[in-house]
Amino acid sequence: MGVSLEQARKDRAAPVPTAGSQGMNLPFEIQPAASPTSEKERAARLVDPGFGRIFTDHMAIVRYNQAKGWHGARVESRANFPLDPATAVLHYAQEIFEGLKAYKRDDGGVNLFRPDANARRFRNSAERMAMAPVPEPVFIEAVEQLVRLDRAWMPGGEGSLYLRPFMIASEVFLGVKPSAEYIFAVIASPVGSYFKGGPAPVSIWVSENYTRAAVGGTGAVKCGGNYAASLRAQAEAIDHGCDQVVFLDAIERRYIEELGGMNVFFAFDDGSLLTPPLGTILPGITRDSIIALAKDSGTHVREEAYTIEQWRADAASGKLKEAFACGTAAVISPIGKVCSASGDFLISGGAAGPVAMGMRKKLVDIQYGRAADPHNWIRKVL
Ligand SMILES: Cc1ncc(COP(=O)(O)O)c(C=O)c1O
Repeated sequence: MGVSLEQARKDRAAPVPTAGSQGMNLPFEIQPAASPTSEKERAARLVDPGFGRIFTDHMAIVRYNQAKGWHGARVESRANFPLDPATAVLHYAQEIFEGLKAYKRDDGGVNLFRPDANARRFRNSAERMAMAPVPEPVFIEAVEQLVRLDRAWMPGGEGSLYLRPFMIASEVFLGVKPSAEYIFAVIASPVGSYFKGGPAPVSIWVSENYTRAAVGGTGAVKCGGNYAASLRAQAEAIDHGCDQVVFLDAIERRYIEELGGMNVFFAFDDGSLLTPPLGTILPGITRDSIIALAKDSGTHVREEAYTIEQWRADAASGKLKEAFACGTAAVISPIGKVCSASGDFLISGGAAGPVAMGMRKKLVDIQYGRAADPHNWIRKVL
């Protein structure tokens, strides 16, 4: 890369950033947009928002450098970031993100679902990527302040406000080392119901050419690079007429890991549930919530490795009753069909089953405040 050995050594010896002592309770300066979207225009955009295409008027933003730690916390008008072409993130992909939703209750208030779990996962992602961890209270405050300021953008009915916290390495420097500067920001996007007319079973393509993560890699964290590397496999799924890709483990190429953006569960004829163990997969908050709710109702849940051959055999014998994918965006998607180079098979006749649908309702009812919240997962923002 044209740097002297001495300089390269110095760069690599750069410290991994830490949160800094000033990070814990940052006051956010709130600067409402001078000319926000008109009520008429907002209403028009909310008619059919789709996913991730329209955005609210504001963003939360906090900056980090080694001298000041986390500082300059603001919620302000949503705007472009001016980025020097040598900004570190543009070259070495030191970037992480999160995804969570705010839900409108029937009484007009707004719920967040387990934002503390997103804050914790964001910190873990930062640590894995040698980035400055955002203190969890700062993460939660940024999300809450943005939701409060942009409350007019909360869709009603089965819609929600999707929140996207993210962090980029913003130091202007081409050396390969942990950046000394970061921008943490949160943007918000109103989204409609993921499935119009109820959850439709998805078909999935088993990726035999590409893997997502190996032991010691970054599979368990939410860094942008994981998603860039998954796109080719997802395109292969689409080419084979499937909705989503499912990845196998990187060593034996047999064990089911997860979909491109969702975890996976299997429901058996003895009433038990199985989900692949943590390690190289993203520790999904929906996954964790499903395990807790299933255990509450006495269901035996196994976090165990499961091979693609066993999946095929159990679907054929009838031992496997259902399979479903789960994540924040869709909550639960029944899996109706599995396709691979060695042939296709159906699950529960290709239809949505009662375990997936029952679990989906339980979760959604808690999220919208329609059911009791035995695990204290809901944080009322408004
Ligand atoms: C790779 C991957 N797995 C699983 C999930 C599900 O995680 P969560 O339930 O926290 O949304 C996601 C979505 O964030 C994901 O991107």
